[in-house]
Amino acid sequence: MISPKMDKALNDQLNFEYYSAFIYLSMAASLERQGLPGFSNWMRIQFQEEQAHADKFYHHILERGGKVTLDKMAAPQVDWPSVLSAFEDALGHEQIVTSRINDLMSLALDEKDHASAMFLQWFVTEQVEEEATADEIIQK
Ligand code: FEO
Repeated sequence: MISPKMDKALNDQLNFEYYSAFIYLSMAASLERQGLPGFSNWMRIQFQEEQAHADKFYHHILERGGKVTLDKMAAPQVDWPSVLSAFEDALGHEQIVTSRINDLMSLALDEKDHASAMFLQWFVTEQVEEEATADEIIQK
């Protein structure tokens, strides 16, 4: 059973993963409009990955006796003037996600919630890859 504090923190991240998905879908649409289907497809794959991340939180919350609580989210940006600006924003966003995952991990350890810490370990590793991939494309 997760604590009410952990329940809220996990739900906040579940919702943030869906917000991340919307940002990537909006980036995909912007790049498609600019005649860049390959970059657009890359963003659409991220859109799907973020939904899969949200789904992991969904199942973890329910498995631990918590309550899935979906919330309204901010509208994503609509236009990006260039591929570079989209990828720079993607990297910036992933850095925010990494910080949030680290805070969640700290909370899990403070609460001696080892099951949540084990669950979050996957995201710690995933964020290393997410940041590295976006940065590699920016460098290119
Ligand atoms: Fe779910 Fe791209 O972090």
